Amino acid sequence: MQTLRDDTFQTITSLMREQAGLHFTDSKKPLVSSRLGPRLQHLGVASFEDYVGMIMAPAEGGDGDNGSELQVAIDLLTTNETYFFREPAHYELIENEVKRDKPKTLSVWSAAASYGDEAYSLAMLFADLQKQGRLGDQWSLLGTDISDRVLRGAVQGVYPQDRLRAVTPERLHRYCWHGEGAAEGLVQITPKLRERVRFGRLNLCHPIEDLGPFDIVLLRNVLIYFDAATKREVVDRVLTQLKPGGLFFIGTAEGRVACNTPLQPLAPGAFRKLAT
Ligand SMILES: C[S@@+](CC[C@H](N)C(=O)[O-])C[C@H]1O[C@@H](n2cnc3c(N)ncnc32)[C@H](O)[C@@H]1O
Repeated sequence: MQTLRDDTFQTITSLMREQAGLHFTDSKKPLVSSRLGPRLQHLGVASFEDYVGMIMAPAEGGDGDNGSELQVAIDLLTTNETYFFREPAHYELIENEVKRDKPKTLSVWSAAASYGDEAYSLAMLFADLQKQGRLGDQWSLLGTDISDRVLRGAVQGVYPQDRLRAVTPERLHRYCWHGEGAAEGLVQITPKLRERVRFGRLNLCHPIEDLGPFDIVLLRNVLIYFDAATKREVVDRVLTQLKPGGLFFIGTAEGRVACNTPLQPLAPGAFRKLAT
């Protein structure tokens, strides 16, 4: 495996910070080396210095970072861990709010969607609430992420069973197809549920074109990768897409969120956007 020099590590981390807001401290050098090293070998690139040259080269076709080696590097350096009904207290809060308000419409954004587990968990919840007459049929979800790789997985909606360990047997039966033979151990979200969720690429560190406004926005377990200034910018940018009175979530382990938008704390990682 090639050696990652300190100065080259700094070049890579600066680039990742500029392009994706990703913040790597010096202690993350082994992680960066181990995630990018196999890619160098796969491409037959002799050194990390040569690889830096590749990721800094403009993308063919001129469409920014999409489709370039830079995008591949971002994909490799982002951590995409996620699973269904992660941090269940947030789902309970959303469920109680919907049961109380019985909205006719509901528009929700999963802003660091990874493989879509969060968006499809919400889709299962909303489909159940609609069935119970607590929610109208005009509900929809948008899942966005910087990584094309995870978004491709999200659109397919195929998962190892273990990722759905917190899904009730009724929901597994109602909303999933279960693989057999070569697909044993895999489940796929049913087309009816999948069609409720759209996925698209969005870099939270770039200006956001009009997406919303949404009733609920989840920005969970992504802020941990940004430095303090980027966190604040990202949170305020994302909150421009949330309706006043709407619910906003970050990961429960992500601490207090610093931002300029007024928020009312509801529970760990859960807030209501106040009218300004
Ligand atoms: C750990 S996952 C969180 C998934 C889900 N929200 C959850 O809580 O289970 C973090 C996701 O943030 C995405 N991400 C990292 N930097 C990003 C950026 N600048 N813009 C958009 N997404 C980003 C990563 O690709 C990754 O899929």
